[in-house]
Amino acid sequence: MEQRLQACSHYCEHKKAKKYVPEHSAWVYLNKHIVMSMYYLLKTKSGCNLYNALKRLMFPVYKRYYSNNNLGIFLTTSCNLSCLNCQTSARQAPANDFMSVGQMKGVVNEAINLKYYWNRIYLTGGEPTLHPHLFEILDIVKIYKDFNPGCVIILETNGVGNKAQAVLNKLPDWVLVYNSNKIEGKNTYGFSTYNVAPKDTLEYKFSDFSKGCKRLVSSYGLCASMYGYYPCSPCMNVDRVFAFDVGIKKLSLVNEKALREQMRILCSCCGWFKERHIEKVLIDVISESWEKAFAEYRKQKPKLSQLNSWPD
Ligand SMILES: C[S@@+](CC[C@H](N)C(=O)[O-])C[C@H]1O[C@@H](n2cnc3c(N)ncnc32)[C@H](O)[C@@H]1O
Ligand code: SF4
Ligand code: SF4
Repeated sequence: MEQRLQACSHYCEHKKAKKYVPEHSAWVYLNKHIVMSMYYLLKTKSGCNLYNALKRLMFPVYKRYYSNNNLGIFLTTSCNLSCLNCQTSARQAPANDFMSVGQMKGVVNEAINLKYYWNRIYLTGGEPTLHPHLFEILDIVKIYKDFNPGCVIILETNGVGNKAQAVLNKLPDWVLVYNSNKIEGKNTYGFSTYNVAPKDTLEYKFSDFSKGCKRLVSSYGLCASMYGYYPCSPCMNVDRVFAFDVGIKKLSLVNEKALREQMRILCSCCGWFKERHIEKVLIDVISESWEKAFAEYRKQKPKLSQLNSWPD
């Protein structure tokens, strides 16, 4: 298992996140985070960090290239936990949507036909171990692995519960695991403020959202989901909650222009766009646009158009 963990590029990112585990007194730790959380809450409601705004004016950030090396396959929105500020909104917009076996065949067949040699494929969610047809899905991923043996396949899991453990024990050797080892009943992991839409803050309101954020290159890469292709998985989640319904329905239609257009719309809502990724909080922080979107979602769950299934 240790070997499997090490193979995952996310490991470094999570090592950093572990700095938030209290080493001295839990009391000091808690106080520090309550103060920080209140600070970010107030900042979000009231507006602008002048220093950052000036810095951005003087040193503008140009468009980031999206990663063409890795693919994140978003298998399900379903989750057995409800972590605060989760970038899948499992807490505020729960859903049990699954990528179908037919859609998965489409993703793999198109990648093979178009000769896409991904370096890594991340199977993610939600909680992918909850997918009722996970092993059929893996059979299809294996077809891609045989086409491109160098591709590393990584399944992400929170590792919580008997079901997840049973699935993990049965995984074939060629599937590596990144287990974030979450704890049942705990929902505070010091996540970044995903639900603070940059367009709701004075500081970022007028940004060029089509440039995307650092995560484009540092994280999973392109995301394939049941609603289509997106520059990344947090992008897909913005779409499913806000119901813009802008998923790209074929890999052959994925190109710079189409992805930039998605980012122009979706990154304006995604908290990762903000440059200060250290904004990790232990309470739910939700800006105005997300509040509205969640309220609409609770009234009626949006129905997004779906990625086509591969004909049998
Ligand atoms: C969306 S989860 C999916 C996999 C699985 N459910 C899990 O939690 O490990 C993917 C990764 O994103 C992390 N994550 C989710 N929301 C985040 C946020 N707002 N800030 C930082 N990391 C986040 C999770 O801890 C997890 O490692
Ligand atoms: S376990 Fe993963 S998907 Fe589920 S709520 Fe937590 S971060 Fe989100
Ligand atoms: S801002 Fe969010 S949606 Fe846009 S590229 Fe970054 S992580 Fe993806």
